[in-house]
Amino acid sequence: MKKNIVVAASGSGSNFKALIDAVQNGTLDAKISGLIASREDIGAATFARQAGIPVYVLKSTTGETAPLLGDQLLEALEKFKADLFVLAGFLRKIPDEVVEAYRDRILNIHPSLLPRYGGKGFFGIRVHQAVLNAGETKSGCTIHLVNEAYDEGRVLAQKVVEVLPADEPADLAARVLREEHKLYAPTIQQYLESLTD
Ligand code: GRF
Repeated sequence: MKKNIVVAASGSGSNFKALIDAVQNGTLDAKISGLIASREDIGAATFARQAGIPVYVLKSTTGETAPLLGDQLLEALEKFKADLFVLAGFLRKIPDEVVEAYRDRILNIHPSLLPRYGGKGFFGIRVHQAVLNAGETKSGCTIHLVNEAYDEGRVLAQKVVEVLPADEPADLAARVLREEHKLYAPTIQQYLESLTD
């Protein structure tokens, strides 16, 4: 039986699209059984609909009677029968009860060489800006397990990317993102193969 992967995304969804492609070309031997989208209109949701993948759109969690993020994630993961929960540009912190329920079953991709430039506030272009400000000559991307602390779970894979002298944050972001697209599917495949049940 193929394992079910559920992906969560908040943005353009290029990593999600790379995973859809990897399933289609056989690099990733699994089924993407659902997408959890932070909003209806994000790019990732469009990719899901084009590929016939069901989308669970998160409701706002602000306001006294609003549903909690953790409850919504657990509902979606159960609905899509998740074996593995894959974050692909999902900007919210995963609540502890979800980490607990899916211990060692949640993966994230981060656009730096963790533990450097990770943690709260390090997302999107800010990561690359910080790398350039620090005068680094190398950056890269990291795939890691998700635990209760931001970007601190066990590292599964990393790819180093050169920082070039003329780089603007957007140049570095694009170079790192290209490597993310190549690294995520094979790492997920390898991780799935390492799971015993
Ligand atoms: C990627 O850089 C990823 O590392 C980070 O968020 C970004 C998502 O990009 N977690 P996309 O939505 O997959 O294009």
